[in-house]
Amino acid sequence: MQIPKALLQCLHDRLGLNPTSINTQSLINGISQRMKACRCDDIQRYAQIVQNDRHEFLHLVEVIVVTETSFFRHPAAFQHLRQLAQQHGTDSPLRILCLPSSTGEEPYSVAMCLLQAGLAPETFSVDAVDVSSEALMRAQAGLFQQYSFRGAMVQSYMHYFSVTAQGYRIAPEVQQCVRFHQANILNDSRLLAMGRYPIIFCRNLMIYLHADARLEAAKTLTRMLEEGGTLFSGNAENSAVWHGYFQSQRIAMTFAMSHADPLTSTHRFAITPYQKPARPASVPPVTKSVAAVSPHYTLASVQQAANQGNTTAVIRQCEALLQRQPHTSELYFYLALAHESQGRATEAVKKLRQAVYLQPHYQDALQHLALLLDAQGELQAAQRVRQRLVTVREHGSN
Ligand SMILES: C[S@@+](CC[C@H](N)C(=O)[O-])C[C@H]1O[C@@H](n2cnc3c(N)ncnc32)[C@H](O)[C@@H]1O
Repeated sequence: MQIPKALLQCLHDRLGLNPTSINTQSLINGISQRMKACRCDDIQRYAQIVQNDRHEFLHLVEVIVVTETSFFRHPAAFQHLRQLAQQHGTDSPLRILCLPSSTGEEPYSVAMCLLQAGLAPETFSVDAVDVSSEALMRAQAGLFQQYSFRGAMVQSYMHYFSVTAQGYRIAPEVQQCVRFHQANILNDSRLLAMGRYPIIFCRNLMIYLHADARLEAAKTLTRMLEEGGTLFSGNAENSAVWHGYFQSQRIAMTFAMSHADPLTSTHRFAITPYQKPARPASVPPVTKSVAAVSPHYTLASVQQAANQGNTTAVIRQCEALLQRQPHTSELYFYLALAHESQGRATEAVKKLRQAVYLQPHYQDALQHLALLLDAQGELQAAQRVRQRLVTVREHGSN
């Protein structure tokens, strides 16, 4: 099926969708599903319906957005959130925005994290926003299946769930902390009316948007984040996707960003080239003896160090393990993240290339590599990696 340009243009303009970021077959399946629902068998006519009927446009959005999420995704962010919340004064309630919230796992993780840190429910609130009404309805229902509990961190929060015949039900005390709102990140007037926040989660949205939409989103979020506030980004969304409006706080694995320094940021309107920090941290030399004296390192211990934001330990452990297990692609991936966190993007690119050489279908590594190449201005190489990523996704392998 050939998707009409007018239909792609509509998704591009109104949703900000970069069609190369999603699986072509899923896009075609979604369109076919809506054509059936509209009893329309001519795709050109369906494109006209979508252009002229706002309701049908919203129905189409429901079937194409990627709502993939889970509880306590990128766990180091929640450890940092806990510290930020404890530093927040008692003069005013702590307001947190989760945009996009998808089916609720992320905003509920924020609420559970703060309750468990000892904050009283009346001292904070979480606003959760998404363009998808269906995702929001599922979030409000508060019922989750096993798939949402993939990470290890959620295991310490299971007392906030009760097991029912339909699935895991989130506790009312957590639900009461979260308010859900339907909005599009490209419709800034509705969002700006929500006010400013000291903490914003905007994770795993920018990877689906085209460059102009990312720019609009970055401008909106820069106005919604209070001075000195923290924006949590996704693990594949480095400062380049934020068009220079935000800069990394360099707290490893948290993907925490601040407003860019106005003196150094140019708020570029194109992909921002990677800026090498003035004094990159030095990497401790690793010798064979490290492996010999540290036989207990494992991939799990590397992941744990990564989640604690200890990049030096990640590098030490990965280098030691690679001497014994030189074909473990995940070790190259963690090594790349740690090098990137310490300001060595070129080294990070090399490690990611090694990861995908060993495991050609490694989606996280491909995604991250594309963004790093973008940031280094290697746009053609980035595009080649993206094409490969799309092919991998279409064939459903990881
Ligand atoms: C992959 S989920 C990310 C959920 C969560 N933040 C996380 O990281 O686990 C992406 C979400 O972005 C939402 N989305 C896509 N385009 C949007 C837009 N233009 N405005 C607001 N939400 C959007 C989708 O509906 C989907 O729920």
